[in-house]
Amino acid sequence: MKFGVIGAGQMGSGIAQVAAQTGYDVLVVDASATALDKAKSGIQKSLEKLHAKGVITESVESITKRLRFAGDLAEFKNFAPDLVVEAVTENFELKKTLFTKLDEVCPAKTVLASNTSSISITKIAACTKRPEKVVGMHFMNPVPLMKLVELIRGIATSEETYQLVKNASEKMQKTTIVARDLPGFVVNRILMPMINEAVYALMEGLASVEDIDAGMKLGTNQPMGPLTLADFIGLDTCLYIMQVLHEGLGDTKYRPCPLLKTYVDAGWLGRKSGRGFYKYD
Ligand code: CAA
Repeated sequence: MKFGVIGAGQMGSGIAQVAAQTGYDVLVVDASATALDKAKSGIQKSLEKLHAKGVITESVESITKRLRFAGDLAEFKNFAPDLVVEAVTENFELKKTLFTKLDEVCPAKTVLASNTSSISITKIAACTKRPEKVVGMHFMNPVPLMKLVELIRGIATSEETYQLVKNASEKMQKTTIVARDLPGFVVNRILMPMINEAVYALMEGLASVEDIDAGMKLGTNQPMGPLTLADFIGLDTCLYIMQVLHEGLGDTKYRPCPLLKTYVDAGWLGRKSGRGFYKYD
């Protein structure tokens, strides 16, 4: 199977890596040469680590031979992928432009999936002339380690399209769940209000950052406390998803915490900016 990825950020490079590990030929497209370079070195490091631990047995060199990188999505015309997963920033206008172009350059057989964490698949599908071949494929960060792929059926997604992404995810050794196309789907509908509530607890002076995290990490056996996890995901992403839940479901229980907004306004976006609820070197 030929596998396309658009966006060479953390999610896109993780998806491309796991697809190549599975044996798929992969083409990764990103307009930024810097992002492509960063993706190449990140994939190399991750594969070396997994190989050293015996998680993968095939040589790193032979896996990376299945990966190609390009700066223009017109390259998908010759590549003729069976499946393309889009993993760019959560911005509907950007996704609209990309899906319109993808629809033009990809052959009729290509299934177009979005890794969106919150934007409507039905709305993305409506930007194409193949809405039955558009589907949500929501991977979790870090993709090489996390076992889940959340599949989302848009209103027009066909059974054939759903089966194709379900089979591909399972070949990639992921467990799938399926969700209806409602804001936040399953994972973020439940995860983000918990993170938002942790920020409210901090804002109200209920406890310190460390104690909120230790309470949830040790008290409910989560691998990371909610504020550590928010820094890991990115506070701008957390805020964006809360806004999508608030607007899309129209319930005040989803209102984003003002302190979360303040951190984003300050540019304190978590690990990626060096500061969020914690400071990073
Ligand atoms: N590739 C290969 N190895 C990796 C890696 C990667 N991408 N990322 C981390 N590792 C390695 C680390 O280097 C480390 O290796 P060593 O043991 O050799 O040091 C090992 O994995 C374990 O990592 P850590 O010791 O740093 O930490 P950990 O034991 O806590 O595991 C974790 C890391 C898997 C990320 C774990 O903390 C975890 O599961 N955290 C929660 C993650 C989560 O909830 N993700 C979902 C976020 S929500 C989302 O993605 C959806 C959305 O739309 C927002």
